[in-house]
Amino acid sequence: MEVKFKIFRFHPKRDKAPRYDTFKVEASLNDRILDCLNKIRWEQDGSLAYRMSCAHGICGSDGMTINGVAALACQRLVKDYDYAKEILIEPLQFFPVVKDLVVDMTRFFQGMKAIHPTIEQNVSTTKGRKERKQTVEEHAQFEDAIKCIFCACCTASCPVVLEEEPEFIGPAAVLRAQRYIFDSRVKDALDRMKIMEEPHGIWSCKTYFRCTKVCPKRIKVTDAILQTKSRILRELHPDTP
Ligand code: SF4
Ligand code: FES
Repeated sequence: MEVKFKIFRFHPKRDKAPRYDTFKVEASLNDRILDCLNKIRWEQDGSLAYRMSCAHGICGSDGMTINGVAALACQRLVKDYDYAKEILIEPLQFFPVVKDLVVDMTRFFQGMKAIHPTIEQNVSTTKGRKERKQTVEEHAQFEDAIKCIFCACCTASCPVVLEEEPEFIGPAAVLRAQRYIFDSRVKDALDRMKIMEEPHGIWSCKTYFRCTKVCPKRIKVTDAILQTKSRILRELHPDTP
């Protein structure tokens, strides 16, 4: 079966404006979109740029926009789309394009770094090199958040980031903060909650749920954000009705 791909192309150092190239690929219904991109790069145009590494939904490097929705190319199959028409492949939204489907993730990782207190905390609860134990229930509090693979699909789909407040640290960064705030072994929850309250922090989230819809690891990102908001209200603003 022949499948047509319309792919965003742009080399900011060389091109005056982006363009779209169309490629035809022999593919089957169960081929991954990443397989098709590989075929294009290996057999038709070696200059096509995109990131990939594991090809199994683990490294988070092949986030891109497929038919308008952020996704991992290695997780999406040809049959997930209307393959009788062209499948449109574009870079993740919001981030500057480095080349074709490769984007500059600096802004994403800045958000991740922003959630850490600058003062080093002693997180150890025991002396020496003993393990720091945690109950199953305590671990369950942040188990979902540690599945995050930093693909940035959520941040690149968030209406607050895209349309309202580009400075918002983004859903992935708030999820990361939730992971530490709810980890019983980490002792700086209050400091981190205060960081979350800074401008462009957690209160910029308007609960659009788009992050949860696109997350390739099926993390309940919005739930984690709401859980963190409730805890901030409970612990930093106990008088709030
Ligand atoms: Fe990707 Fe999901 Fe992590 Fe967002 S929360 S960076 S969509 S894995
Ligand atoms: Fe690693 Fe897709 S290539 S997640």
